[in-house]
Amino acid sequence: MFSRSQLAKKYLHYRLTALSGRGHGVHSPFVFDFIEQVLNDKKRYPIYSLIENQRRKLLADDTRIPVEDMGAGSAVIKTSERVVKQIARSSLKPKKYAQLLFRIARYYKPKTIIELGTSFGITSAYLAAANPAVKLLTCEGSKSIAAIARRNFAELELENIHLAEGDFSQTLPPLLHTLWQVDMAFVDGNHRKEPTLDYFQQLLDHSTASSIFIFDDIHWSAGMEEAWETIKQHPSVTLTIDLFFIGLVFVNPDFKSPQHFSIRF
Ligand SMILES: C[S@@+](CC[C@H](N)C(=O)[O-])C[C@H]1O[C@@H](n2cnc3c(N)ncnc32)[C@H](O)[C@@H]1O
Repeated sequence: MFSRSQLAKKYLHYRLTALSGRGHGVHSPFVFDFIEQVLNDKKRYPIYSLIENQRRKLLADDTRIPVEDMGAGSAVIKTSERVVKQIARSSLKPKKYAQLLFRIARYYKPKTIIELGTSFGITSAYLAAANPAVKLLTCEGSKSIAAIARRNFAELELENIHLAEGDFSQTLPPLLHTLWQVDMAFVDGNHRKEPTLDYFQQLLDHSTASSIFIFDDIHWSAGMEEAWETIKQHPSVTLTIDLFFIGLVFVNPDFKSPQHFSIRF
């Protein structure tokens, strides 16, 4: 992974070179609509405070739990016994991005969503709450972390979530096998080049024209940046939007020539 100062330099470069988050200079009607209706939707949806309340409880939880380090691991801690509040601080997507994922799922209305990397289920809750008709399939390798996610789903009364426990390499293929199609996916675990490209290919094999794939931490390491570049160059990919901490991938063949945007968010 990149050092803090390397990451800070990259972030500064992104802030200086990305297109304005107001849509100036964006000629794609689809992307303009995304900016107007989704990226810049500032409404306070009631579910936001309920889910953020769960996050607050996790951030104050001193319980020690055993954690299997499944993938590239956390940038902050690497022991096998961890404190809940430390995991909550280092692993969960901040509310700005989790709420953006909620708005994406709310606006584009995917019927099936796959999340790789549940952690305590905060982002999963946002994705599931976006639309009661959505079926969210989320995958987590650590048993004790998955148990806390299940508790959160129950407390939030979210019933449209199926949590698959185990390594992604074991849980993703059977999930995809049972699914007709994947309308949306959030890949937020095992941030290494080869596994990321492998998950992308598996998701792509189950994509439709309207599928949206979202990759976390695309600038986290040289390997993740290589994976992101490879995904952008894939012949099926027709549009990407780089928001620095996450990258959005669209495979709609109606977007004729591939376009790649970096937008300030
Ligand atoms: C960054 S956290 C996910 C955060 C969550 N999406 C959120 O925003 O609230 C990544 C999670 O993926 C899990 N994970 C990483 N690699 C994995 C693998 N190969 N198989 C299963 N789980 C894995 C970790 O245990 C960790 O809980």
